[in-house]
Amino acid sequence: MERMSIAPPPPAWAVRPLTAGDVDRLLHIQTITYGTGLQESRDVFARRLACAHQCSIGIASQRDDRLLAYLVACWAAFGHVTPLHGDFDAPPERGRVLYIHDIAVLPDLAGQGVAQRLIGHLLAQARRQHVRQAALVAVQGSMPFWRRLGFAEHTLTNATELGHLRSYGPGAVFMSTAL
Ligand SMILES: CC(C)(COP(=O)(O)OP(=O)(O)OC[C@H]1O[C@@H](n2cnc3c(N)ncnc32)[C@H](O)[C@@H]1OP(=O)(O)O)[C@@H](O)C(=O)NCCC(=O)NCCS
Repeated sequence: MERMSIAPPPPAWAVRPLTAGDVDRLLHIQTITYGTGLQESRDVFARRLACAHQCSIGIASQRDDRLLAYLVACWAAFGHVTPLHGDFDAPPERGRVLYIHDIAVLPDLAGQGVAQRLIGHLLAQARRQHVRQAALVAVQGSMPFWRRLGFAEHTLTNATELGHLRSYGPGAVFMSTAL
């Protein structure tokens, strides 16, 4: 009998860049995944996604392109912290780093490697562009998650950046990793 070859099922979701058209859906995911104190406005996300130095990506359903998870990020100076509700400052000409501002995954998809896929995708893009470091502010007790991906706590000394860090509340921690 002739053997039938069965094609594997297509992936249910795919990584793609975020656009201004994703803001409403992004806010929906943010509402579900973040406590009220950390939620940011439609206007600030729209401005971030419109700026030239952002590199945000998301995971969208292959069926209808609906956003299921997002990673909002930009190129920045090392040691710079985007304050809560703040815009993405332009990076320096040299020595820019990958700054991960915010990541969130719909609870339905939790634990399936979606966040790690988004982070891995962006870290690989940064390495291809010879970016040497990535940084972020860990909130909502996510430090162990980032540690497992190689990030370590980094003490900030600049008073302005420390002020920006404090805008996320007492549990926020600045972390970085070499790429
Ligand atoms: C944190 C978050 C992005 C992880 O998304 P995810 O797609 O479920 O993560 P992955 O599937 O890639 O990884 C899952 C692993 O990370 C672990 N993990 C998830 N959140 C964690 C946390 N806050 N602390 C420690 N580990 C965590 C899981 O236990 C799991 O471990 P396992 O592989 O040993 O089972 C998601 O839980 C989320 O959207 N949280 C709300 C928003 C948030 O707090 N974002 C981070 C702010 S800096």
